[in-house]
Amino acid sequence: MNILLIGFMGSGKSTVAKRLSQLMHLSCIEMDDLVYQKTNTRNMSEVFALGGELLLRETEIAIAKEVASKDHLILSAGGGVVLNKIILDYFKIKGGKVIFLNARFETIVERIGKEDSRPLFKQIDVAKKLYDFRLPLYLNYADEVIDVDSLSADEVARTIKNLCG
Ligand code: S3P
Repeated sequence: MNILLIGFMGSGKSTVAKRLSQLMHLSCIEMDDLVYQKTNTRNMSEVFALGGELLLRETEIAIAKEVASKDHLILSAGGGVVLNKIILDYFKIKGGKVIFLNARFETIVERIGKEDSRPLFKQIDVAKKLYDFRLPLYLNYADEVIDVDSLSADEVARTIKNLCG
């Protein structure tokens, strides 16, 4: 069974995935890193410069298809995977468990701060609209929802281990 962490940018997926992989002795994969490998880029700004959001989303679908054949992985998904149901469907093929790290928008803004490396988090009002649009999608696809606002990455990882271990 694979474990897929979903949630908005800044909800802590990458940090939790690393911690969880130590706790559960499973390999952990960062989907954004696979996007860089596949597109021959080094970061998300380069992906967007090369082919815009379309390239990102098409690459995410291709990655989900490949990863669907693997097992015993922890996957930290890009925040936008819920935009394409086909991605979630691929992950479910092997009975993957989808965990939504649910952070309030205020928490996300605090965590991301003034970082500008994320092409879709350049303007707070635009990011808030994305957040509002996606929240029901995260909730819809999640097998488990963890409210992460007041939890450390370690606490979130332990909670997931208890749910899936
Ligand atoms: C995105 C989230 C990012 C990355 C890209 C787009 C999104 O991943 O895939 O910048 O649409 O929410 P993280 O959620 O890991 O930051």
